[in-house]
Amino acid sequence: MKQALTLAARRLLPLSVRRGIIRYTRWPPVGLVRMGQLRRPTPISPYWGSERGQPVDRYYIERFLATHAADIQGRVLEIGDNTYTRLFGGDGVVQSDVLHVADDSPQVTIIGDLTHAEHLSENAFDCFIVTQTLQFIYDVPTTIRTMHQALKPGGVALVTVPGISKISRHDMDRWGHYWSFTSLSARRLFEATFPASHIQVETHGNVLAAIAFLHGLASQELRPRELDHSDPDYQVLITIRAIKPEETACASPD
Ligand SMILES: C[S@@+](CC[C@H](N)C(=O)[O-])C[C@H]1O[C@@H](n2cnc3c(N)ncnc32)[C@H](O)[C@@H]1O
Repeated sequence: MKQALTLAARRLLPLSVRRGIIRYTRWPPVGLVRMGQLRRPTPISPYWGSERGQPVDRYYIERFLATHAADIQGRVLEIGDNTYTRLFGGDGVVQSDVLHVADDSPQVTIIGDLTHAEHLSENAFDCFIVTQTLQFIYDVPTTIRTMHQALKPGGVALVTVPGISKISRHDMDRWGHYWSFTSLSARRLFEATFPASHIQVETHGNVLAAIAFLHGLASQELRPRELDHSDPDYQVLITIRAIKPEETACASPD
């Protein structure tokens, strides 16, 4: 019926009339969306909004880590610095290690590339916090195998990766910014090494959160219910919790 009406309108009405109908039967009317201060081709902040408050992706990262704070215990390895080990780990953390690919600042205990497992002892860590890092490593499957190998049986990897995101210029100019992920690619990548039953993948964000994040607005500039609405078609952040089985019968990487 709708198709027949469309075809009839196309035959009988001039283009200008058809455009007028489309314009005023859509809401907001086509061409009359008020974009306000977002109407600019450059972002409000190119620094993820960090000078305005908390970047939107960090709102989701911190909510994920707070939810799984009980996993952050024993010997914990974090990438780059140990901010989240200290923030969420509590008294259960026995040893805090920091891995960096190049930097030798005082808090770094392991300098190494996650695509080369020889930097890390096997079965050594109870928890591996890998936030916003996999997008900077070209060989993600090898990186996940390294993480699995370094975890103790029963150990947990808490991982976050970007979906809809700007490029990180700082990282791009050093080791490279290669990827954005989806819940599906994240799941398949982890299932190649961890058993499917030991992996939880969740998505965070929605169209408003994505726009705010891309423009560099801070999480404080949105309402909690605006941030918390989850639309799986607008994945700002993907979180993965993967547990190494007690018995190391992992899936073959090939
Ligand atoms: C933006 S930081 C991410 C970690 C930080 N804690 C966070 O939450 O934002 C980027 C990190 O990627 C790491 N990185 C880049 N390439 C790497 C590689 N091949 N192996 C290990 N780490 C790598 C760098 O050491 C750097 O600390």
